[in-house]
Amino acid sequence: MTIDVIILAAGQGTRMKSTLPKVLHCLAGKPLIAHVVDTAQSLNGARCMVVVGHEGMQIREQLANHRVAFTEQAEQLGTGHAVLQALPNVSNDSTVLILYGDVPLVSKATLEKLLAQVNNDTLALLTITVSDPTGYGRLVRDEKNNVVSIVEQKDANDVQKQIKEINTGIFAMPAQRLKKWLPQLSNNNAQREYYLTDVVALAVADKCAIKTVTPNTDYEVEGINTRAQLAKLERCYQRAQAEKVMLAGVTLADPDRFDLRGNLTHGTDITIDVNVILEGDVTLGNFVEIGPNAVIKNSKIGDRVIIKANSVIDGATVSGHCEIGPFARLRPDTVLQPHAKIGNFVEIKKSTIGEESKVNHLSYVGDSDVGKNVNIGAGVITCNYDGVNKHKTVIKDGVFVGSNVALVAPVTVEANATVGAGSVITKDVDKNTLAIARGKQTQIDNWQRPTKKEK
Ligand code: UD1
Ligand code: CA
Repeated sequence: MTIDVIILAAGQGTRMKSTLPKVLHCLAGKPLIAHVVDTAQSLNGARCMVVVGHEGMQIREQLANHRVAFTEQAEQLGTGHAVLQALPNVSNDSTVLILYGDVPLVSKATLEKLLAQVNNDTLALLTITVSDPTGYGRLVRDEKNNVVSIVEQKDANDVQKQIKEINTGIFAMPAQRLKKWLPQLSNNNAQREYYLTDVVALAVADKCAIKTVTPNTDYEVEGINTRAQLAKLERCYQRAQAEKVMLAGVTLADPDRFDLRGNLTHGTDITIDVNVILEGDVTLGNFVEIGPNAVIKNSKIGDRVIIKANSVIDGATVSGHCEIGPFARLRPDTVLQPHAKIGNFVEIKKSTIGEESKVNHLSYVGDSDVGKNVNIGAGVITCNYDGVNKHKTVIKDGVFVGSNVALVAPVTVEANATVGAGSVITKDVDKNTLAIARGKQTQIDNWQRPTKKEK
């Protein structure tokens, strides 16, 4: 079965007080609309269409990598009018699913439950009962409890305003029926809008059954109008993710201070301290320990790795048993082989650090290939950049680089060589040798220090 998903995103979102369209604000690091599109696309047989306003360029650009079609609604004349714009692209034998670009967290499971209710003679509505229904469309039911219509807040009488079962806005129905009903909508109501919700009364008149379904969790149907609502939903989402990872074998020091902005693949017996942020695609092996305030983005972390406080890791591949930090920074294309150690105030970029090698204090290693059992002393810098080009540094197995050495690339230090502290190395160093490149120490005997004159 084909499902034509129509995602409404033409509204202005004025309450965000933003130059950015509302649906491009991010939740868990991803634009609201991208959450909706990703969920829609995960449904079997789904084709996505996004209805945007005449300034929808930014939305089109943001979704350039998604398989979606766009329809423009030049004037926002109501939700019914918005769906009408998309209708020419909907095939007659499909099921239409209506979603909202500003209701980001509706789940695949809930939508599947909703879609399962739809057939040629049935329309399915996602509804929820709330303590404060203010602002929402109310579900009006008859004495047999059958849905007869949806009435908007602004059109509701005092009795209807007491109804606590509300329309989430999400619903599904056979395309053929929708094509018949939509042209019949009028804007004869309090807001002078073409209400999509009026389709429900038309369906009832047309002897179509109305089924209601409730979401698996309440926050799934929450819409975003303000930044405060966005922040609240972000916390709901993060809390749910925290519960999920804990159930799967991860210890979180505080589930309210855990942020996953992307996808986490992980083993078990992992411990994560407070304020850790995981972004993009992150993989954590078994027995990984992550200290407070670490930020890990698009990286693979092997078994038994220890990441200490305040380390920032981006685009790195870290093998088992490595130790990183505190205050370390691994930049893209860093590869750490097993048991490597990266200490405080060390930056590694586009480099491989071999097995059991150590870069423990205050160093920069960039565009380098570092072998096994290498010791890089405090303050060592690879001078990889000549102002125009980047050059490579090769440090082979067993090398010992003393403190405060500058390695001017391109340069190679052969196996088991030793480089004396404070050296500026501009030429290759042969294996098993000691290279020292610094001013020689001299001594002046009986040195007289200057003395202060007495006043
Ligand atoms: C709508 C429903 C209401 C429901 C509520 C849930 C109607 C008439 N009412 O009301 O029953 O309880 O959602 O949040 O449908 N949009 C367009 N083009 C338009 C108008 C709206 O694309 O011309 C989009 C908006 O960008 C938004 C969505 O449709 O994403 C809903 O519009 P909004 O004006 O917020 O609807 P509500 O009045 O809240
Ligand atoms: Ca409205």
